[in-house]
Amino acid sequence: MKPDPQQLQQLLAPVQDGMKRMREVIALQLADASPAVRDMVEHVSRFQGKQLRAALVLLSGDASSNSTDEHASIAAVVEMIHLATLVHDDVLDGAKVRRRVACVNERWDNQVAVLFGDYLYARAFALSTDLSSRLCSRVLAEATRRICIGEIEQAASRYDFEMSQERYEWIAGAKTATLYAAACELGARYPGGHESMGSNMRQFGYELGLAFQIIDDCLDLTASQEQAGKSVGTDVADGKVTLPVLWVYQRADEARRARIRDCYTLEGLEDRVQRLHEVCELSAGVEFARARANELLRSAVARLALLPSGASRGALESVAGFVLARDH
Ligand code: IPE
Ligand code: IPE
Ligand code: MG
Ligand code: MG
Repeated sequence: MKPDPQQLQQLLAPVQDGMKRMREVIALQLADASPAVRDMVEHVSRFQGKQLRAALVLLSGDASSNSTDEHASIAAVVEMIHLATLVHDDVLDGAKVRRRVACVNERWDNQVAVLFGDYLYARAFALSTDLSSRLCSRVLAEATRRICIGEIEQAASRYDFEMSQERYEWIAGAKTATLYAAACELGARYPGGHESMGSNMRQFGYELGLAFQIIDDCLDLTASQEQAGKSVGTDVADGKVTLPVLWVYQRADEARRARIRDCYTLEGLEDRVQRLHEVCELSAGVEFARARANELLRSAVARLALLPSGASRGALESVAGFVLARDH
């Protein structure tokens, strides 16, 4: 199955009205008198992302019979926080392309991108504090803290080829799965109460998000920029040793290990990923990582058994399928 945006849109059909409202809320929240900010907002709005996290807020709400008038705004807050993390992440990773256009750090510069990311966080939290319950602010402030810790720990572990799978998953979980978990929890239990359903959906989101990041790390090694719509190969260029490489490295003899390390560290290497494919059986590591993602997704989908069956629960199951099959 080759997922395309059209197919993802179909999959999200049960919440398309909420998605439309979510986009309107974001447009309103990011309308600013500053011409420079307007320029940047216009630039990052040229191509929409998949908006999966926003969809998860709405689908989790609907599937748990917990939709409120405020769910579209929560989805907007989550999507704006996600966008802020991307703008900052591209600075950290020195990326050039995001959603098929130049990254903010590339189109402007790092300083402007840091400030624009901060601006997006500020707008997101301003909106969340307007909501009737504080749960959204509380859950997302905690999620943002964990995302920062994940990115900081990842930076502290650059070029660590001895990293355990457990630590790799901890970092991927913190930087990515946390926001998925928060989106699903808020969908299922905002404005409060429903703690057991909230916790079940939080775990669903966490496993889904961890699988999402594992697949993303595979795509960074196997996809083209054209396919992914964003810079690829940046993990190798930045010394981020991801699961497929860890798996191959830790099973290799010392001579091969040295060649793998060289792919990350030799100066002036043009295409580090290409070289990595030449010096080791990277596809075996990718296969292992994909199998791990699949295992997480199975566990996630099993949690949906607690929900009444219906279109939104079906869509949540399909999102799990999309995460595994996605090529962008
Ligand atoms: C990219 O997330 C960042 C990761 C956590 C890997 P998405 O692939 O969901 O980004 P968009 O929003 O669709 O562009
Ligand atoms: C996602 O990790 C980090 C965030 C939580 C924003 P990546 O660095 O792998 O994301 P991409 O590949 O740049 O989208
Ligand atoms: Mg990145
Ligand atoms: Mg990536």
